[in-house]
Amino acid sequence: MSTARLTGKVAIVTGSGRGIGLAIAQRFAREGAKVVVADIREDNARAAAEGIESELGAGTAIAVGADVGLAADVDRMVTATTTAFGTVDVLVNNAADTSGQKHFFEADERWWDDILRSNLKSQYLCIDRVARIMAAQRSGSIINLSSGGATRSHRGMIAYDASKGGVEALTRSTALELAPYGVRVNTIVPGLIATGPDEPEWSLQRRDRTVPLGRGGTAEDLAGPAVFLASEDAAYVTGSKLVVDGGVLVQQRSPQVDTLRPEDYPDVPPGPR
Ligand SMILES: NC(=O)c1ccc[n+]([C@@H]2O[C@H](COP(=O)([O-])OP(=O)(O)OC[C@H]3O[C@@H](n4cnc5c(N)ncnc54)[C@H](O)[C@@H]3O)[C@@H](O)[C@H]2O)c1
Repeated sequence: MSTARLTGKVAIVTGSGRGIGLAIAQRFAREGAKVVVADIREDNARAAAEGIESELGAGTAIAVGADVGLAADVDRMVTATTTAFGTVDVLVNNAADTSGQKHFFEADERWWDDILRSNLKSQYLCIDRVARIMAAQRSGSIINLSSGGATRSHRGMIAYDASKGGVEALTRSTALELAPYGVRVNTIVPGLIATGPDEPEWSLQRRDRTVPLGRGGTAEDLAGPAVFLASEDAAYVTGSKLVVDGGVLVQQRSPQVDTLRPEDYPDVPPGPR
């Protein structure tokens, strides 16, 4: 008997040419899903799909170059999926513009519109297209990537944080409206996840020290939670928010400035109480 948890499922993962999306696409394929690697960087999408096929065999992945903030590209992505694999069972709305910081006084309308289009409208467009297919088959799982920025603000990221607040509202409302059709919609909230070679080692180490579990996350840390929400194990889970951040969001003060610091925590008491 197969222990793979997504056998027979068809999954689209947007923005999966690199980073968290890539780790989710790779893991979904290892769990038996047919995977559509969609990314605005078509070269990265192709490399990712080829990597999956070379590991797991021909016919396990396709690549689609698409800007998911554009309706025509989303239509092409969904058509490519149904042409290759017949349906869509899982959508991971992962793509987002994660670049660039601007102070409020330096922000402008163009910047705001670009980020809201890439990060929020894109999720609406993808849900709109796949929900019709999922509702007709009375099953489907949609996973929207949010951010801790939806709850607590990053400096210099007003548009990003607003877009992620929108993602969480979109998750709740689509969960409600699609539930009668058997379509589940949930959010994953990643924490401090290193996804690029761009960040210097000293910066990564500084981040690690702010996380209650003692380390920043990796893209692979998001893959298991995504498999859970995509799988039948989560059959009764919709409209929920799964925070995968090593404890960052639950702390009021970072360990460096808290009055009881983690290094001053007591030793584990001996034996049962
Ligand atoms: N890395 C983190 O610490 C972190 C924290 C919280 C939330 N997130 C969220 O997780 C998701 C993945 O983050 P990441 O760190 O892997 O990002 P990343 O920047 O490493 O990768 C994003 C991918 O999306 C693609 N992309 C961007 N805009 C696109 C568009 N319009 N159409 C199609 N593809 C597009 C990029 O080409 C890239 O491959 C994002 O939604 C991000 O907001 C990440």
